[in-house]
Amino acid sequence: MPRDTVGRTITVAVVLCLVCSLLVSATTVALRPRQAAQRRLDKMRNILIVAGLIGEDAHPSQAEIERLFERIETRWVDLEREATLVPKEEEESIDTDQMIFLPPDMDIARIKRHPRFMEVYFVRNEDGSLDQIVLPISGLGLWSVLHGFIALDADLRTIRGLGFYEHKETPGLGGEVDNPKWRAQWRGKTAFDETGRVCIRVEKPGGGGGSSDDPCHIDALSGATFTSKGVQNAIHYWLGENGFGPLLKRLQQERNDGKA
Ligand SMILES: Cc1cc2nc3c(=O)[nH]c(=O)nc-3n(C[C@H](O)[C@H](O)[C@H](O)COP(=O)(O)O)c2cc1C
Repeated sequence: MPRDTVGRTITVAVVLCLVCSLLVSATTVALRPRQAAQRRLDKMRNILIVAGLIGEDAHPSQAEIERLFERIETRWVDLEREATLVPKEEEESIDTDQMIFLPPDMDIARIKRHPRFMEVYFVRNEDGSLDQIVLPISGLGLWSVLHGFIALDADLRTIRGLGFYEHKETPGLGGEVDNPKWRAQWRGKTAFDETGRVCIRVEKPGGGGGSSDDPCHIDALSGATFTSKGVQNAIHYWLGENGFGPLLKRLQQERNDGKA
């Protein structure tokens, strides 16, 4: 019987394809937990950078990251219920896949939807008092949704740091959101004015825009107006009434009452 028939060739090709796809699928499934663990570590590292607990270029070991995170209390927030903190005993039953879909008039960050439950990070001093709070933010730039964190001082108004860990903006233009020099100007700026409204404006320096002495002004990235506006919009949404605004107001109230 001839060995090189069309039937045999097709059979060998099909078997080879099946074996290869099985191998690829098995590898993907097997590596998934490790990828998830790496993503979690990367997120933790970014939180530490934004909070100023490690340097910009630091790549600490997993053990070091976990040690530094001992200062940080992670809490879930329910964004459908005025950003209330979910009681610790209810955290187990949180459905992390549940989404909030934003109607266009609410969607100032142009993200369309976000999870109902999100994590926030309370950085504590040694005596347990609040040092700062780190909040997740996201907003549409020119090419992509930028995902990052903003850190606020214990007064819950003054910005301690800002950073993005995921975006697809153009390197050298919108990608300059990652430039440590640009990020440095956020430190010490005021997120809210005296009336409690989010006041950050990312705008071109001079030409009618604010100056660097203005506590609400941030110099826009040159040649990247869309990305700059995206960052501003992200901050206005996430610190605003549909984001973490109500949580911050309650914490400020507790602080004024001497509880926090
Ligand atoms: C290839 C290319 C990539 C660009 N990437 C970005 C970007 O990442 N972010 C952004 O805001 N604008 C980007 N722009 C520029 C915008 O299209 C637009 O011209 C710019 O935001 C205008 O900003 P300006 O008023 O500061 O010059 C890019 C333009 C080109 C041609």
